[in-house]
Amino acid sequence: MESARITMFDTTLRDGEQSPGCSMNVQEKLRLAHQLDRLGVDVIEAGFPIASEGDFAAVQAIAATIRRPTIAALARACRPDIERAWQALKGAEKPRIHVFLATSDIHLRYKLKISREECLQQAEDAVRFAKSLCADVEFSPEDATRTEPEFLCQVLEAVVEAGASTLNIPDTVGYTIPTEFAALISMIRQRIKNEKVMISTHCHNDLGLAVANSLAAVEAGARQIECTINGIGERAGNASLEEIAAALRVRADRYPYHTGIVTEQLFPASQMLSDITKVPVQPNKAITGRNAFAHEAGIHQDGMLKNPLTYEIMTPQSVGVPDSKLVLGKHSGRHALGLRCEQLGHQFDRRELDEIYRKFVVLADKIKHVQDHHLLELIEHTHGSSRRIPPAHVDARATAAAAVGARSTNFPELPSTPLPLSSEHQPDQEDYLWGV
Ligand code: KIV
Ligand code: ZN
Repeated sequence: MESARITMFDTTLRDGEQSPGCSMNVQEKLRLAHQLDRLGVDVIEAGFPIASEGDFAAVQAIAATIRRPTIAALARACRPDIERAWQALKGAEKPRIHVFLATSDIHLRYKLKISREECLQQAEDAVRFAKSLCADVEFSPEDATRTEPEFLCQVLEAVVEAGASTLNIPDTVGYTIPTEFAALISMIRQRIKNEKVMISTHCHNDLGLAVANSLAAVEAGARQIECTINGIGERAGNASLEEIAAALRVRADRYPYHTGIVTEQLFPASQMLSDITKVPVQPNKAITGRNAFAHEAGIHQDGMLKNPLTYEIMTPQSVGVPDSKLVLGKHSGRHALGLRCEQLGHQFDRRELDEIYRKFVVLADKIKHVQDHHLLELIEHTHGSSRRIPPAHVDARATAAAAVGARSTNFPELPSTPLPLSSEHQPDQEDYLWGV
């Protein structure tokens, strides 16, 4: 199957910034925009220039500095917004005005207090005006997934006539489900005859389905995905860029699509955003959470030490995470414990390790994560320091441990004592009992 190119539209600096606690100043936005450029996104939505002087300045600065990706700015469907967006964008190498107007009856009646006819006219006029300023115009019918489908298509046809080259279909309130969204995208594709018009998705995560809905839309013919780093955004957030990029790469067998994303830049982007906003990444967040490549259960640690493919579907390095980690806790087994002891310069036979292991489990039950200094105290207490291996003997692993320790300074989310995986295996470690 031929692999189709998916345009990755990052809206971390606009929709993402709208999430509580995530606002950024001009310098911070510029810093993140440089990282988005390194990450290889195709479009950076830099802000909503009418919203504030700061947002205007940020869009202007990004438009003037970042030259490879398209730079988009948001505008409501009215002249002042569109003019302001254009003023901020006009220095860009590739500017895009993104116009939006709600189309669902609930938004028209209660929020905008306009009729469908007025909505249709306003959308068309706004896009025509935007097009008179900028060659690249995107239109979003806000709350598209709760809009009556026939009316939605009428609006989309009208804005294409007026000059929109991208039709973005937002699931504004995170209400849709994959099969339903795919059917909507297919229907829109059939109605919009112009082949050059790009269909885009913009999914919110209120039901935890934003990534699944975005991928379903792609299978139905959408070729642009709007998403954010760490999935930040209004309420439960937007579709997470790193999850989409990784899914497309890891499951290329089922997804014949490719992106320009440099996946090794995913973790650095996630860390930078978290550092700027001071909003931590949830530990179990797919791809970029600190537990995404951490293993505590003994059976898993044993499998990982024998072959990482047993419990990891991608290498941590492929998404920019420095290393997998074997975390020593109450679920850990002798295999990982013995390896860590070796890395700390202590080698034990089975009987000795057994004794350490029993004490280790009691300790782990109390303190959750057993750090190196705890382990050293336990070893000292059990066997004294007589079992210490001469440095030359442990060099390779000790060096690896030190390297991981050093890297974890650059990535403060990592615990200070991860266990790097080693490809060297002792024959007696093949005993499966060592994993439990
Ligand atoms: O969620 C939404 O509907 C939006 C639009 C402005 C695209 O963010
Ligand atoms: Zn949104």
